[in-house]
Amino acid sequence: MIRKVLTYPDPVLKKASKDVEVFDSKLHLLLDDMYETMIAENGIGLAAIQIGVDLNVLIINIPQEEDGVQIKENLIEAINPQIIKKEGTTVYKEGCLSIPEYYEEVNRAEKIEIVFKDRFGNDKSISTDSLLAIAFQHEMDHLKGMLFVERLPMLKRRKFEKEWKKKSRENKKF
Ligand code: CO
Repeated sequence: MIRKVLTYPDPVLKKASKDVEVFDSKLHLLLDDMYETMIAENGIGLAAIQIGVDLNVLIINIPQEEDGVQIKENLIEAINPQIIKKEGTTVYKEGCLSIPEYYEEVNRAEKIEIVFKDRFGNDKSISTDSLLAIAFQHEMDHLKGMLFVERLPMLKRRKFEKEWKKKSRENKKF
C-alpha cells in the first residue's frame, strides 16, 4: 500500500527512531509499503519515519549506472543500521522526498562501512564509496530525526527557509 510521505516542516520528521526488536510479518508489510511508496514517489531511498513510523528501518534502491533503471534486485532493506567506519569526504547534490523539488550540495563521508539486519534479522554488512554511501548517510540522518537541510551552511539554510516559506504560500490550495 502506498503511504503518505511526510514533508518538511512536519514535526514527526524530527523524531528519533527506535530499533526493531521483532522481525515479523508486520515489519515485512512496512518494508513492502515503503518500497511501493518510494517507487511511486520516484525516490531512491526512504526511511520509515518519512511515512510516520519511528523505527530504525530504511530502504535504498540505487538506479543502475548503465541505463539509470531502478531494479528491485538492487533493493537494500536495512534494519537497525549502524555506520562502523567512515573515511574521507565527498560532496553531492542531494534531494529528499520530504523536501520536494529542493536540491543542494551536502558534505558527507566518502566511504563508509555499515552493519545492519535484513528483514529476517540476519546480520549484514556493506562497505561502499559510491552513491550508496551518500544514500545511507542521508537515510540514517532521517532515523536520527535530521533532514539534509540541517547540514547546510547557515547562509544556504536561511535561503532555503525563505524559499520554502514562499513556495508553501504559493502552493496553498482550496
Ligand atoms: Co530524505
